[in-house]
Amino acid sequence: MTSIRILVGSVYGGALLTARAIKKELEGEGHHVTVLENPAVDDITSSNDPLLVCTSTTGQGEVPANLLPFYLALRDQLPQQPGRPFGIIVLGDSSYGDTFCGAGDLLEEALYETAARKVGETLRIDALETMEPEVEAVPWVRSWLEQI
Ligand SMILES: Cc1cc2nc3c(=O)[nH]c(=O)nc-3n(C[C@H](O)[C@H](O)[C@H](O)COP(=O)(O)O)c2cc1C
Repeated sequence: MTSIRILVGSVYGGALLTARAIKKELEGEGHHVTVLENPAVDDITSSNDPLLVCTSTTGQGEVPANLLPFYLALRDQLPQQPGRPFGIIVLGDSSYGDTFCGAGDLLEEALYETAARKVGETLRIDALETMEPEVEAVPWVRSWLEQI
C-alpha cells in the first residue's frame, strides 16, 4: 500500500477529473490517495508521501490559477525535499506549439529545485489526440507506482 498526494491544476476540470479517476482506481487497489485541488506548500511539507502533479496548461504555457499560488510559494520558499519521489502528468494541446504542456515543465523545474527526485517520464496528454485523459493516466500511474 502506498500513500500519494496529487497536486491538481485545472481550468475546465479535465485534469481534476483525471486526478479523481486516479484516486478511484488506486483506492480500489488498496492505496491511499489525497487529491489537493487548492494545494498549499504546507500540504506537501506535512508528509513524506510521493507527489504526483496532475495539471493542465493555460495562457501561454502557464500554470492554472488554482495551482499558481502553490507554484509561486514553492519557488519562493524552496522547502528542501531531498530524494522525495514525484511524477508529472500534464494536459495540453499540441496546437499551442512551443508552449505545449508548459505547465508540467514549470512544476518539474520547481520540484527539482527542492531536490525532489523525478520518477518516470512526464506523461503529456494532448487534447488533440484524446478526450479521455484518464484512459492514458491510470495505466501510467500504475507503472509510476511500481518505480517509486
Ligand atoms: C485559454 C487557453 C489557453 C491554453 N494554453 C495552452 C498552452 O499554452 N499549452 C498547451 O499545451 N495547452 C494549452 N491549452 C489547452 C489545455 O491545457 C487543454 O485543453 C487541457 O486539456 C485543459 O485541461 P483542464 O480542463 O484541466 O483545464 C489552453 C487552453 C485554453 C482554453
